[in-house]
Formats: sequence, structure tokens, C-alpha cells
Amino acid sequence: MTDEQLQKGEALRQKAGFGNVEFKKGYIEELPFKSENFDAVISNGVINLSAEKEKVFKEIGRVLKKGGKMAISDIVTEIQLTDSIIQNANLWAACIGGAMQQDLYKNAINDASMKVMKLIENSQYGFLTDSAKSASKKYGVKSISLLAQKG
Ligand SMILES: C[S@@+](CC[C@H](N)C(=O)[O-])C[C@H]1O[C@@H](n2cnc3c(N)ncnc32)[C@H](O)[C@@H]1O
Repeated sequence: MTDEQLQKGEALRQKAGFGNVEFKKGYIEELPFKSENFDAVISNGVINLSAEKEKVFKEIGRVLKKGGKMAISDIVTEIQLTDSIIQNANLWAACIGGAMQQDLYKNAINDASMKVMKLIENSQYGFLTDSAKSASKKYGVKSISLLAQKG
């Protein structure tokens, strides 16, 4: 997302000799790609940081080819977070404040011309800080892996 990240990625790509890898600068709310362009979209721990998740899933649905798959890992909650947690910048940066309630999350995917095929909880995932651990326990904040397919 930042120039520094792109530079590091490009340096590592060259070092490893990956000729079939390309980095493009962009935001997940506005993907710099044409529609129906990809067989698969993957993401790990990024979507929960967006304040516009419906828009993100619509963008993924747009760039996938018909029958294409989205395979992601992300943080969601069992219970809707309170406004005071959502407005806490530290908890947002800890991947908690932006976590969406899991039914709403699945609805947003299904509303973006995709169908949720599989969802598993990653029980081995743990939070580090005390405030993150406490919010995780109270609101059921957890890591999931999810597979969806464009209809
Ligand atoms: C928790 S890290 C995960 C990074 C990587 N996927 C991994 O598994 O190690 C979150 C990443 O999301 C990127 N990010 C956050 N908001 C974004 C947005 N709106 N558009 C694109 N990237 C974003 C950040 O730059 C950061 O690299």
C-alpha cells in the first residue's frame, strides 16, 4: 500500500527471481484492475482494517471472473462491537476495532455477487495486548479463514 512496502516487495521479488509476480499500488476499496480479470483473490489480515468493507467485497466481486474464488483470512466478531471500541484507534490498529460482526460480514460477501462456501475459525490465533485480549473475550473477536465463489 505504501511506497516503502512496494519497494521492499519488489526487492524481495527480484532477489527470489519470481518472474511471474507483479506489485501494483492501490487501495482495496478501489482496486486498480479491470472487471472480471482474476481467477482468485487472496488476502490475509487486511479487510478488517477498512472502514468500507461492503465496498471492498463489491470490488473483489467486480474483479473476479465468473466462478472465481476469494480465499481470505480476517478478524471478525461474534457480538457487534460498541462505538467506544470502534472509535479506539489503538484497538483498530490491533485489528480489533475494525472487526465486523460475522453475520454482517458474510452478508456483505453474499451481497457482492459471491457465495460463502466455507468458513473455519483459526483457534490457534491469539491477541497480544491486554486490551485486545479483553475485547476478544468479551465480544468473541476471532480469526477466520473463508472461501467464497463468484456466481
Ligand atoms: C496486518 S497487515 C497484513 C499484511 C499481510 N497481508 C500479511 O499477512 O502479513 C495489514 C496490511 O494491510 C494494508 N492495508 C490497510 N488498509 C489498506 C487499504 N485500505 N488498502 C490496501 N491495503 C491496506 C497495510 O498496509 C498492511 O500492510
